[in-house]
Amino acid sequence: MSDDAPPLLEVRDLVVRFDVVTPGGPWGRRRTLTAVDGVHVSVRRGETLGLVGESGCGKSTTGRAVLQLEKPSAGEVIFDGRPIHEWWVQRWGGWRWDHRLRDLRRRMQMIFQDPSASLDPRMTVEAILAEPLRNFALASGSERRGRVQRLLEIVGLDPRFIRRYPHQFSGGQRQRIGIARALALEPDLIVADEPTSGLDVSIQAQIVNLLGRLQQELGLTMMFIAHDLATVRHVSDRIAVMHLGRIVELAAADRIVTAPLHPYTQALVAAVPVPDPIRERARPRLVLAGEPPSPLDPPAGCPFHTRCPVREERCRRESPPLRTVAAGHEVACHLVD
Ligand SMILES: Nc1ncnc2c1ncn2[C@@H]1O[C@H](COP(=O)(O)OP(=O)(O)OP(=O)(O)O)[C@@H](O)[C@H]1O
Ligand SMILES: [Mg+2]
Repeated sequence: MSDDAPPLLEVRDLVVRFDVVTPGGPWGRRRTLTAVDGVHVSVRRGETLGLVGESGCGKSTTGRAVLQLEKPSAGEVIFDGRPIHEWWVQRWGGWRWDHRLRDLRRRMQMIFQDPSASLDPRMTVEAILAEPLRNFALASGSERRGRVQRLLEIVGLDPRFIRRYPHQFSGGQRQRIGIARALALEPDLIVADEPTSGLDVSIQAQIVNLLGRLQQELGLTMMFIAHDLATVRHVSDRIAVMHLGRIVELAAADRIVTAPLHPYTQALVAAVPVPDPIRERARPRLVLAGEPPSPLDPPAGCPFHTRCPVREERCRRESPPLRTVAAGHEVACHLVD
């Protein structure tokens, strides 16, 4: 795919705020939490964009807002050239999807961290995988069964398992069913939110490899969310590093891993273990001091300055914008030339 084809997904200055109540006073204090604070990124067709960062930095909220499972507070989400963030209507005292967004659902799917929670325990695998096909009237009868069997094959499960229930599978197999369900409607975009975090380490690599293979074979466009760089780098073409609701660095996956520029990315890279135990012990380690700041009380200036090992005076005052420092490499840091 050529680089100048229009991207499948364009996210512009996306902001998601939540009203929360924190302890204080007789009824608590009402406050606004900014979970996503101006995310700007695009995803090309056939590309996998990795999204990494510590717990609470806003990865899931970004993924959910991209799929309009969360209504953006500000900013734009352009999917296949259309402004889908506008496709909401106010009804029954809340915001609902309008008909265009409901129709679009089949083109955008999510894979969740915990497959057990997202698979109905009372339904057979066949029923689980046939449901989306039925809802969108895509296939019926024997054709539908054939498609379900084919889906199982694609994700590496024996099609004879079709009448089994989710509890009759292992965790890794259940995640394969979750992936098959996301693929059933042949979506254009998949947001995989920590699809391997709930699995045994030995199984994680299998699922990562499966997603990588499917991405290649089916030409999927994917946003792959994880908190560890080790997982993300294997499937991603480019990686966006998130900190406190913002992207602080964005570049090709191997550049992020071999030549990170933002001190936060450098700390994440340093935390990835090296397979060789001798090199692993000898390696300098950059450890971040303290907890990440709360999105309820983000620090003034650069949001990373409270933990930054190289901060300067102006980092306390000015928030650095994300800017291009080399072809395809964006960084939000005052100290990077
Ligand atoms: N529905 C909600 N209401 C209030 N606050 C929320 C809601 N959803 C998320 N948050 C807050 O928004 C921030 C970002 O959360 P999010 O789940 O997007 O982070 P994350 O990067 O996916 O973290 P993790 O790695 O733990 O999954 C957190 O401070 C979280 O507590
Ligand atoms: Mg999350």
